[in-house]
Amino acid sequence: DMRRDLAGRRVMVTAGPTVEPIDPVRYLTNRSSGKTGYALARAAAARGADVTLVSGPVALPEPEGVRTVHVETAREMLSAAQEAFATADVAVFSAAVADMRPREAAARKLKKGEADVLLGTIELVENPDILATLGAAKRPGQVVVGFAAETDDVVANAQRKLSSKHADLIVGNEVGGGRAFGTDDNEVWFVTAEETYGLPLMPKDRLADRILDVAASFLP
Ligand code: PMT
Repeated sequence: DMRRDLAGRRVMVTAGPTVEPIDPVRYLTNRSSGKTGYALARAAAARGADVTLVSGPVALPEPEGVRTVHVETAREMLSAAQEAFATADVAVFSAAVADMRPREAAARKLKKGEADVLLGTIELVENPDILATLGAAKRPGQVVVGFAAETDDVVANAQRKLSSKHADLIVGNEVGGGRAFGTDDNEVWFVTAEETYGLPLMPKDRLADRILDVAASFLP
């Protein structure tokens, strides 16, 4: 890619899943591979941007020329993203953040038959919404891109998330049945305040450039 249209710009990307500990050996997580976020980070760097990638645990190599910050939980991702967001021109939230976490991570491995252990019950509490929190703190000229992972009503849910999360672009994708999570290709909708349109199935690295094209068009 010969375009250097993001030279001098700072781009922040969140990627991958978060993991939320139950005890020292168990956790709650989801099927995100990080492929989408890592493709975004590589594409932004190739276009000349100064890139910070805030990544949950994934099995991908760190992109070259990108500052990668590794986190595990949603709360760790929030604080790392908050720091990078402060100076970012473009922020893309592709991570699949766990919406909930166990209220407490047990200090010792939970075992059946112990008087104080109910293996059938894990009490959950809501995690912070990283995109909604930072989107609400957006500076004029800062461009915010979010995703919407939906099993149904992709477009309506993506349109709702555009305003509830203060995003300039929502990338809507249908998930479940082996789609989007972990795959090399994705078929998505783009939702902005102006328009909603579908894109054809394409590799995630081409999708990354399409997302950055729209983000770049919103930059002052
Ligand atoms: O990683 P891959 O295997 O390539 O898979 C890609 C993907 C399916 C993970 C990606 O395309 C995608 O849809 N990412 C968003 C997943 C998600 O959590 O969607 P959501 O609809 O639950 O959340 C909406 C938006 O809010 C997302 O931008 C998400 O990053 C953000 N969010 C959600 C919850 C939360 N607590 N904090 C957040 O920041």
